[in-house]
Amino acid sequence: MNATVDAKLDARALAEYLCAQDNKDLLRFLTCGSVDDGKSTLIGRLLYDTKLIFEDQLAGIERDSKRFGTTGEDLDLALLVDGLQAEREQGITIDVAYRFFTTGKRKFIVADTPGHEQYTRNMATGASNSDLAVILIDARKGILSQTRRHSFIVSLLGIRHVVLAVNKIDLVDYSQELFDGIVAAYREFAADLGFQTLQAIPVSARYGDNVLTRSSNMPWYEGPTLVEHLETVDVSDNLPDMPFRFQVQWVNRPNLDFRGLSGTIASGAVCPGDELVVAASGKCARVKSIVTYDGELPLAIAGQAVTLTLDDEIDASRGDILCPPTSRPEVADQFQARLIWMSEQALIPGRRLLIKIGTHTVTASVTGIRYKTDVNTFARLAAKTLQLNEVAVVNISTSEPVAYDSYRANRPMGAFILIDRVTNLTLGAGMIDHGLWRATNVHWQAITVSKETRAEIKGQRPMVLWFTGLSGAGKSTIANLVEKKLLGLGHHTYLLDGDNVRHGLNRDLGFTDADRVENIRRVAEVAKLMVDAGIITLVSFISPFRAERQLARELVAEGEFVEIYVSTPPSVAEERDPKGLYAKARRGELKNFTGIDSAYEIPENPELLLDTISRSAEDLAEDVLNFVKARIDDV
Ligand code: ADX
Repeated sequence: MNATVDAKLDARALAEYLCAQDNKDLLRFLTCGSVDDGKSTLIGRLLYDTKLIFEDQLAGIERDSKRFGTTGEDLDLALLVDGLQAEREQGITIDVAYRFFTTGKRKFIVADTPGHEQYTRNMATGASNSDLAVILIDARKGILSQTRRHSFIVSLLGIRHVVLAVNKIDLVDYSQELFDGIVAAYREFAADLGFQTLQAIPVSARYGDNVLTRSSNMPWYEGPTLVEHLETVDVSDNLPDMPFRFQVQWVNRPNLDFRGLSGTIASGAVCPGDELVVAASGKCARVKSIVTYDGELPLAIAGQAVTLTLDDEIDASRGDILCPPTSRPEVADQFQARLIWMSEQALIPGRRLLIKIGTHTVTASVTGIRYKTDVNTFARLAAKTLQLNEVAVVNISTSEPVAYDSYRANRPMGAFILIDRVTNLTLGAGMIDHGLWRATNVHWQAITVSKETRAEIKGQRPMVLWFTGLSGAGKSTIANLVEKKLLGLGHHTYLLDGDNVRHGLNRDLGFTDADRVENIRRVAEVAKLMVDAGIITLVSFISPFRAERQLARELVAEGEFVEIYVSTPPSVAEERDPKGLYAKARRGELKNFTGIDSAYEIPENPELLLDTISRSAEDLAEDVLNFVKARIDDV
């Protein structure tokens, strides 16, 4: 037993060593500060002093310094970094740029991110894979609200190592007193942010003091220079020593004789013979071999991409987590998380999205916003929606249980992004705090009588006839006629009408986007129950958003959802104005009115389009009836 452990440790030490050579000790860091703090100048100085600027680039900078620069006849190093023409001319940095440089001891990747509040998402992008943050402060100004904001986001993203670079120290006569004051104030405020190391360094990016070389202007400063510190700071997160986590990326099955699970080891280490389970199902197997392009390995550790073969062909697919049976991640379908919203389109709780945790992508929704945080004051504020760059603590619910660890315990296992289901764009990034208890304690109750039996006894095929369109388009009129006709044929029906349901079940909802999303979510769930009860369900709601109509469609089985677009031009609906609501909205007495100051997204592929201009309500109802008759009788 002991011999095995020793062998495992030796093998691990060797693998770690080889790994370190491969990566030659790479430090990823991010710089935070605004244009005026001299952030770009500092990065330029790092690149310049470590001699990585090519001669022709230098010539370009000398020329540009005279045109755009802010340093007179001196070289403006910021221009080296602010590479984009648009940025230069505006004098701000607008995206995440990655720079590379090397010293004798380490390789570095710097994420240069903009400091303005409206660019929080870019900063978060840069921070998400950094080990350390350099927070810049202008010595003349001291700690500003943006310093607090940057520090908060850095801490939020789990960065544990911070350098406080007090820049422009030359402009305050290299004052130790001023430096000490700033550092003391920062330490006090950052006490709760959970930083493991905090190194304050007085620098002049412009003249190079304490960047690469020690400054003779500040004999009072005895700490390391910026480069010395970056070369030696220990940021190892001990991922190889943490419990084993392997995220399956794909099942590798080139022929019938080989089946392996390919992916990257998120944390921990694995050897052939180790017992593993699939976190979600609890299915168990032993590792037979660790296969790589270069042959089989005796051991693999965090960060390595490998293919594992197992002694038993257990069910596992993309997104599954393999872990030791004694140390499993949590598995839940509801959890609390911190979220940074990155989309121009607001976050609306209840709306269906995709969540991607590691390699696992499932449908999810933000079920509630507990509070959002003012990134300048850290105040907790109530919120119904989230706008671009806002930061909040939210509850998330997934369509199936997912395996995760809290972000605090294991960064790769607790980080996620939210994705738009239609455009595939990233909407937000987040970090899981913990699961919510109700996720694990509410189970499905098995019911003996089935949907099929209920439908059969009614002699029909249940379905949803979903009428959507503007207010005054004629939805309810036509839906009423259709229901009457169906009843005449002996069918069992029910009509859910927006105005009526809003008097009861949905009486707590108004007409903001968020309330409409919830309105449709609820009625879609009710329609689903009705279909389950075997009933032909007519729904007549404006239902202005595609995403929620799609949700309603997905709640029932294939072929059970009939989207009926009641198409009436806005001008005609306004002219009809059966309830006088358009007039009210025009007078400004009614806010968020559909078609006036609230959007209606026209159905792209409805099963039926009813043109109310050229045909009468009676004729259109007959059309609907004919369309659905074939399906209804199909039992
Ligand atoms: S939905 O957009 O959330 O689907 P729903 O169909 O429930 O709307 O309710 C629409 C009905 O509420 C309209 O037919 C109209 O009578 C009434 N109403 C009151 N205020 C508004 C408003 N601001 N926008 C749209 N309809 C409104």
